[in-house]
Amino acid sequence: MSKKDLDWSSIGFNYHVADYRYVSNYKDGKWDDGEITTDAKIVLSEDAGVLHYAQEVFEGLKAYETEDGHIVCFRPDLNATRMMDSARRLEMPEFPAERFIKAVEEVVKANEDWVPPFGSGATLYIRPLMFATGNVIGVKPADEYQFRIFVTPVGPYFKGGAKPIVVKISDFDRAAPHGTGNIKAGLNYAMSLHAIVTAHEEGFAENVYLDAQSRTYIEETGGANILFVDENGNLVVPKSFTDSILPSITRRSIVQVAKDYLGLEVDERPVRLDEVHNFKEMGLCGTAAVISPVGKINDHGKEICFESGMDEMGPVIKKLYDTLTGIQMGEIEAPEGWVHVIK
Ligand code: PLP
Ligand code: COI
Repeated sequence: MSKKDLDWSSIGFNYHVADYRYVSNYKDGKWDDGEITTDAKIVLSEDAGVLHYAQEVFEGLKAYETEDGHIVCFRPDLNATRMMDSARRLEMPEFPAERFIKAVEEVVKANEDWVPPFGSGATLYIRPLMFATGNVIGVKPADEYQFRIFVTPVGPYFKGGAKPIVVKISDFDRAAPHGTGNIKAGLNYAMSLHAIVTAHEEGFAENVYLDAQSRTYIEETGGANILFVDENGNLVVPKSFTDSILPSITRRSIVQVAKDYLGLEVDERPVRLDEVHNFKEMGLCGTAAVISPVGKINDHGKEICFESGMDEMGPVIKKLYDTLTGIQMGEIEAPEGWVHVIK
């Protein structure tokens, strides 16, 4: 094996066409055996359900090379089950969890040369997706689907890596109360595109969305959950009373790391926008974002500045970041079942 000749430290969060992908098709009520293929292109009927009624769900996880040369990924069982939840919500067939995990293993092994070297700062992003290929014209679920997994090496999601970012309170909503905000469906991201383009034009890295019902509570950003650190150095995690926040695997892991590794108290509760100025630190967390520190929030011109400032991660967010990434990279002992060895 020989690693691809890429400048791993400066690849950014972009798509590189790796050599292999995994594809399985659903027809006549069942999934076929699935296979590894080199074909990165998809041919669809003009009437495919995904093109009309957005029947598509996806996932995101990462594979890492550890110091001793193994390739591992982080809690793929949770991605598998979340994708099953997403599929059920959009009336799509479930791709079984054990097959999901096996497909992740196969596609990562096939693309071993694309796994960034340990210590390079880059990782292999794994993107499972499922979409309706079957014909529909009336509004109804299709009866044929494709499940696919491709991979691409990635660097930091936000420019500047661990540098604090500035986010804005969005006037747009991400997810309706009791809608689809709690699943990972492409439709949730389509409607965030205008908001993120606008935010970028205004110089902000991300949007913070409020609950759509009362516009009082903090929900999440377009691509990550939110963490706060209170004046006692404990973690406060926004919870939605309308179930419209994506159940981030990174956030669920951080909550456990905070309690069990760092001895912090964790308060998971609805968080009002008007109390955020009391917090000392803020971070965004997700597979792509890892834990990205936020230096300030812009609320319609009014700045909410965190004590941790714009130069570096605050001390608690930093400890969480170091512990989580240490676990993911195999440097700190992981809780049972968190690190899945692929090779
Ligand atoms: N929230 C949104 C809207 C996301 O797109 C993501 C990314 O997956 C997350 C949160 C973080 O979830 P996870 O930690 O499972 O990647
Ligand atoms: C991820 O973190 O895996 C995501 O899907 C977020 C996306 C905005 C890149």
